[in-house]
Amino acid sequence: MLSFNEILQKVEHEISQLSFEYPPKSLYDPIEYILSLGGKRIRPALALMACNLYQENIDNVIYPALGIEVFHNFTLLHDDLMDRADKRRNKPTVHKVWNDNTAILSGDAMLIAAYQLIGKTEPSCLKEVFDLFTETALEICGGQQYDMEFESRTDVTEPEYIEMIRLKTAVLLACSLKIGAIIGGASKEDADNLYDFGINIGLAFQLQDDLLDVYGDTATFGKNIGGDITCNKKTFLLIHAFELASPEQKATLNNWIGKTQFIPAEKIEAVTAIYNELHLKDITTVKMQGYYDKAMDHLSRLNVTPEKLTILKDVSNRLMYRQS
Ligand code: IPE
Ligand code: IPE
Ligand code: MG
Ligand code: MG
Ligand code: MG
Repeated sequence: MLSFNEILQKVEHEISQLSFEYPPKSLYDPIEYILSLGGKRIRPALALMACNLYQENIDNVIYPALGIEVFHNFTLLHDDLMDRADKRRNKPTVHKVWNDNTAILSGDAMLIAAYQLIGKTEPSCLKEVFDLFTETALEICGGQQYDMEFESRTDVTEPEYIEMIRLKTAVLLACSLKIGAIIGGASKEDADNLYDFGINIGLAFQLQDDLLDVYGDTATFGKNIGGDITCNKKTFLLIHAFELASPEQKATLNNWIGKTQFIPAEKIEAVTAIYNELHLKDITTVKMQGYYDKAMDHLSRLNVTPEKLTILKDVSNRLMYRQS
């Protein structure tokens, strides 16, 4: 069984071997740019790890794992455009280096390239992998649509928020694990438990992303801090701020949310101050811990020897306390 570092090295090596050599080069340069900036590579790593629970030889999971990472990077190109985000992985986003149309079209090409890679899955698993991937991709579009619609709503509830992050973020982590399990030959029960493990880790992962968007360090996180606040994203923090705020704090929040002209740094400072007063960092951390515990419960139900689970437990821990 491979260690986490060996898994990551394998993923990184395979990504470096990807080539997009058709003309026009201008369509593929942004793809090579975003893929060369790294990132955690957590989704392909999860696919490889899940497969490796059941098989020593994990060659068959490489193509679909690459497809998932290319797909993830496609979602980032479009997400950064939708979120007006200027920085990703500590570098200017694709629409900043090039322009909006480039982010749209190179993103589209990445989605197609992702399908090409998924299509290389070994024939005996192809149908199941393809169907799961397609369902997941549509769910992510649904999650992104909710995320955008919520920007202009002020009555988003916690269950609506959780469903939105399940769709936009958690399902891809879950899908990566389940694809690894399917290719590894896991039982249906194990594949489903790995999927549910992924959903719960994914929910915690997005909660941490929301936290880092307020409390992270730009250089480590690689994205500008406060983007969610400036866009009025209905994060776990903002939803609970409204719930817990005094009438005065509520008025301040409403005032900032209603402004169309503002200095971003001032809005970020004012909203963060209210988050601090209401101890929302701690409240979010408790919520994350709940999902982490559920994730561990699904992991413990797998029909594999406990030593084999160490790697997934270690990774879950890293993701919980990640700063990037
Ligand atoms: C960013 O995903 C989008 C979210 C779902 C929060 P990651 O945090 O996995 O981004 P990279 O790939 O490591 O840069
Ligand atoms: C992104 O959520 C989810 C997808 C890309 C599908 P965010 O918008 O919070 O991700 P970041 O913070 O830009 O990475
Ligand atoms: Mg974003
Ligand atoms: Mg977004
Ligand atoms: Mg975010």
